[in-house]
Amino acid sequence: MRIGQVLGAAAALGAGALLYGALVEAHKIRLERHRLRLAGWPESLSGLKVAVLADLHVRDLATLRMAQDAVAMALAEEPDIVVLPGDILAYWKRGVLDLVSAALGGLVSMEGRAIAVSGNHDYFAGRAEWLAPALERNGVRLLQNEVVEMCGVQWLGVDSEIGGHADPYGTIMRADPCKPMVVVWHEPDMVDALPRGPELMLAGHSHGGQFTAPWGWAPATSRLGAKYLRGFFPHAPVPLYVSRGVGVTGPPARLFCPAEVSLLTLETQT
Ligand SMILES: [Fe+2]
Repeated sequence: MRIGQVLGAAAALGAGALLYGALVEAHKIRLERHRLRLAGWPESLSGLKVAVLADLHVRDLATLRMAQDAVAMALAEEPDIVVLPGDILAYWKRGVLDLVSAALGGLVSMEGRAIAVSGNHDYFAGRAEWLAPALERNGVRLLQNEVVEMCGVQWLGVDSEIGGHADPYGTIMRADPCKPMVVVWHEPDMVDALPRGPELMLAGHSHGGQFTAPWGWAPATSRLGAKYLRGFFPHAPVPLYVSRGVGVTGPPARLFCPAEVSLLTLETQT
């Protein structure tokens, strides 16, 4: 086979994979159920169910439908709390708040047991705090370097590092060290800069690599979303769970890396 034919075949294969990724895989959502056994997690809270909806990247009617499907999938699992670790929208534009509000409408049924932090995209062409009214309307509290206690747990919402507003030390200083702490921080690789103490960190941002080989290798990764790409990292400086997220960034396609709604059951490590 000539070199031209080899290159042609490779290009056709790549184009086919991209087409499959755009038309099929980018629209599939997989429910990931995991039991996370955490050192120091109180037995009285063992079994707490946390639904994670990362990287919705809402920007148009297609992403709105995808986000609504993800919300419905999470609620069907009857979680104790729903967590949104950032990149709720893709970028600021006219009408995007209405789309966000419509996407999250189902979360009203959580009766306030829903929290969010900002991701880097929530600062693209705008300010993340502008999201707060649309979130609050649906019972979701936006935490920007703030602590809130819900379901017996302190939820520490750290703002986006890439967005330029993260204050992990200030946030931890606002928490009671005698009560369980879960940090929500958009960029997973920032776990290496997190002070010890919290029992768990939840993140998104990496999209799991979005395009990966069948064995999980990702040729292109996000800044601060490369070292901890997806899944549970019990031996990170603070145990870390990274969701592959719901939406996409860059080309609207995925390969061997389906969108994810996570249902995490937090248990005491014995
Ligand atoms: Fe991000």
